[in-house]
This record gives sequence, structure tokens and C-alpha cells, in this order.
Amino acid sequence: MEQESQLTRLGLFDARVPRYTSYPTAPHFSAEVGPAKFEEWIEAIPAGASISLYMHVPFCRRLCWFCACRTQGTQSEEPVRAYSETLLAELKMLKDRLAPGVKLSRLHWGGGTPTLMPADMMRRVANAVFEAVPMGEGAEFSVEIDPNEIDAARMDALAESGMNRASIGVQDFDPQIQSVIGRDQSYEITRAAVEMIRERDVASLNADILYGLPHQTPTKIADSVQKLLSLNPDRVALYGYAHVPWMARRQTMIPSDHLPTPQERLKLFEVARELFVADGYDEIGIDHFALPTDGLSIAQKAGKLRRNFQGYTDDLAEALVGMGASSISRFPQGYAQNASATSAHTAAIREGRFSTARGHEFTAEDKLRARLIEALMCDFEVSTEELVRDFAADREELAAMFKACADHFGDMVQLSDGGLRIPMKGRPLTRMIARHFDAYDLSKAGHSSAI
Ligand SMILES: C[S@@+](CC[C@H](N)C(=O)[O-])C[C@H]1O[C@@H](n2cnc3c(N)ncnc32)[C@H](O)[C@@H]1O
Ligand code: SF4
Repeated sequence: MEQESQLTRLGLFDARVPRYTSYPTAPHFSAEVGPAKFEEWIEAIPAGASISLYMHVPFCRRLCWFCACRTQGTQSEEPVRAYSETLLAELKMLKDRLAPGVKLSRLHWGGGTPTLMPADMMRRVANAVFEAVPMGEGAEFSVEIDPNEIDAARMDALAESGMNRASIGVQDFDPQIQSVIGRDQSYEITRAAVEMIRERDVASLNADILYGLPHQTPTKIADSVQKLLSLNPDRVALYGYAHVPWMARRQTMIPSDHLPTPQERLKLFEVARELFVADGYDEIGIDHFALPTDGLSIAQKAGKLRRNFQGYTDDLAEALVGMGASSISRFPQGYAQNASATSAHTAAIREGRFSTARGHEFTAEDKLRARLIEALMCDFEVSTEELVRDFAADREELAAMFKACADHFGDMVQLSDGGLRIPMKGRPLTRMIARHFDAYDLSKAGHSSAI
């Protein structure tokens, strides 16, 4: 009770803050970064380096009402085939500009629904990726799989192309909740997808579920988590439902008067969290859970957990290259985002140029603050020594920044000679504490609920 009143006083239940999958966050990108910068940064990747690649497929057969992802509906295969041809051309353009010997550390297909690609196309696109950038030692290839949109032929194509991590969208198992969020998906369908994945010896399984959905109660979320646990995922993303109908128009279909209050959201998260922890999962950052054998858990214990546009990762590659409409790339020099509209993206690639439409070039201060925020989001602590060593940070300035944070957040943070820590009781405030170190205009800061 005392914790709740402290959290209330600090504004947790009213604030809207970014999820800090990047710093600065995407609303601060500008047209200063275009195709020329993108090419320059691609060409600067050293020969023999490891990079990661994200490929976006912005199509879905149905548009779930809760979904805030950038995607468009299609009932036919044709736009997906045409788009895949664009990806093949874009991959060829990448190949022509990369230095020799560059290898893949991680490959991720996301969306939308990448499994809308027909099986033959999946194989062609995967081959084109490996021709542009061969898989390195221990590389991971992960794909977002909608259990409603997969069959044996497509699963074979993915597994035979080297997919070794599958990520399934579950959201919630309760039929009433599913019907109000526009996402019917029986337990049997989800289980069948999991069986298909396991039968093909895909090494690892991730599942996404949501808290904060309309009609969700502690009992209901506990039931959904138990059902999910019966499928033994290696890792789970427990995302807070972001209700942003002014950005994602289809969310106007969601009955907002049945959404839980922010206080209820915190309780829902806690109920789910306790069940995962009791079942032997490690807590990873603010919203993931992983078995101790999973790469995220191992990275966390080694202090090597990182955060990128796909969430938490154990990938240490310095460059993440985004292919496809709206994809964001991260280079040591800055961020570059492709044109959001599929039509604009396709038109650029057809003309033989990358579609980069916006981005951000890092200043030295950005790099320091980006690492500080990433460390808080991943490890709930930040080390003064690391920031001084890697970013030439000024000890006294850092001490003053940490003190200002402690003055604001009281005992929800702890100061020490080593740096700044967020104790267990302060963890619900992690994104707000991270925002404290964000130097950009906070009115653009982001639109999702702080809890
Ligand atoms: C890009 S979607 C792709 C998933 C895949 N198409 C499927 O439906 O299974 C990835 C995840 O984003 C999450 N997501 C989508 N909309 C969200 C929202 N409004 N708030 C929080 N998470 C959301 C969902 O958990 C979803 O599984
Ligand atoms: S949840 Fe998946 S299938 Fe549903 S609209 Fe979003 S991306 Fe498409």
C-alpha cells in the first residue's frame, strides 16, 4: 500500500513514456538522414564484421484490433509476392555495398506477419539474405509466427532455411478477451503451432502475451499464464497493452471503458510475473522472462544484455540493418529508417536507391545517454566506471545527474560510489527513471502508459 502511494506520488499511474527501444526515440528522427547517409554507414561496416539484419513484412490477413504494429490487411498472396520481390532487390543492393567477409549474427523476420509469405518465397528470400550476408558461427535466425497463419509447408521452409528461434503471438487465451480485441485463436491452434515448431527441432520458442487488456482480471491472466506455461516456451515477452487509438485507428474497436486502470495493470503484471518466476523463469529487464538455459538469461547474468528495436537481445553486433518498409537500422553513427509506406519503399527500390526517409546522427552526448538508459532498462543499474571508460563521461557531471535523479525519485533509486541502482521496489518506475536521463523534448516522448 505504501509502495502504491509512493508510485502514485511519482506519477506512475498518469505518465506516458517511451519504451526506450532506442535513444533518442523515433519521434526525434528527422530528414537529416537519407539514402546517402545510409549507404555511407553501410559501406563503413568493416570487412569481416558481424552484423544483424531485421526484415519487415507489413501484411496481415486479418487486422487484430489491439495491434499497434505497422501493417496492412490483404486477402490475397499477390501483394506479399510483389513485396518479397522488392526485398530480393533490396538485399542485392545491400550485398553490392557491404565489405567482404561480413557475417550475420542475428536475422529476424518480423511484421506484420512474415509467415504470409508462400513457402517457395520464404526459401528464395532466405537464400537471398544468406547470399548477401552469410550466417556466422552461432548465428540466430528468428521469425514471428502467427499461429493462425502457418502450415507444415511454410514451417518446413523456415526450418530448412535455418530458423532456430520461433516467436509466436499469443496475447491472451481467454475467449471473451480474444473476441473484444479482435483476435480469435484457440488454445488448440496455438498448441498445434508449438508442436509443429518443436517437431522440426527449432532450438528455441518465444511467446508474446499482453497484460492490460479489456476485461482482463488477475484470475484471467493467471489462467492464461498457466496455459502458456503448459507449452514450455523458452522465453516470454509480457508486454503492457498500449492503447493509442489516435495512432492505431483500429484500436477504436476496443471497448476502452473495460480497460483496467493503471493500478489494475500493475497488479496484472505482478500476478503474471509471480507465476513465471515460480515456474523457474528468470526476469529479464522490464517485461521478459526466460529459462535459465536461454540466451537472454545467460546474457543478463554476464552483464551482456542489450536492448534494440525488437526488445531485449543478447546480440552484441554493432550494426543492425533494417530491410523493408518502415524498418529502422542502427549503426555506430546513428539510426536510419526506411520509408513507412510500402508504396514509397517499393518505388525507391525499383529506382535502385534505398528508401531511407529519416533518422538521427549521434552526438557524443547521445551515445552516453543511450548507454545509460540501456543499462537501466537491461540491468536496473548503471556503472559510473563504464561510462567514464567507454564514453569519456565527466565523473562530477555524472554524480550530479545521479543525485538529481535520487532527489526526484527518493528511495526508488539508490546511489553508490559505483553509480545508480533501481532496487526491486522501484522497478515499476524504470521507464520513468530512464526518461529522467532523456535530454530531448519530453512532449514528443512517446505515447504508451508508464506501466
Ligand atoms: C508485430 S506483432 C507480430 C506478431 C504476429 N503477426 C502475430 O500476430 O502473432 C508482435 C507483437 O507485438 C505486440 N503488440 C502488438 N500491438 C501491441 C500493443 N498495442 N501493445 C502492446 N503490444 C502490442 C503483440 O504482442 C505481438 O505479438
Ligand atoms: S497482431 Fe500480428 S496478425 Fe494481428 S494485426 Fe498485428 S501484426 Fe497482424
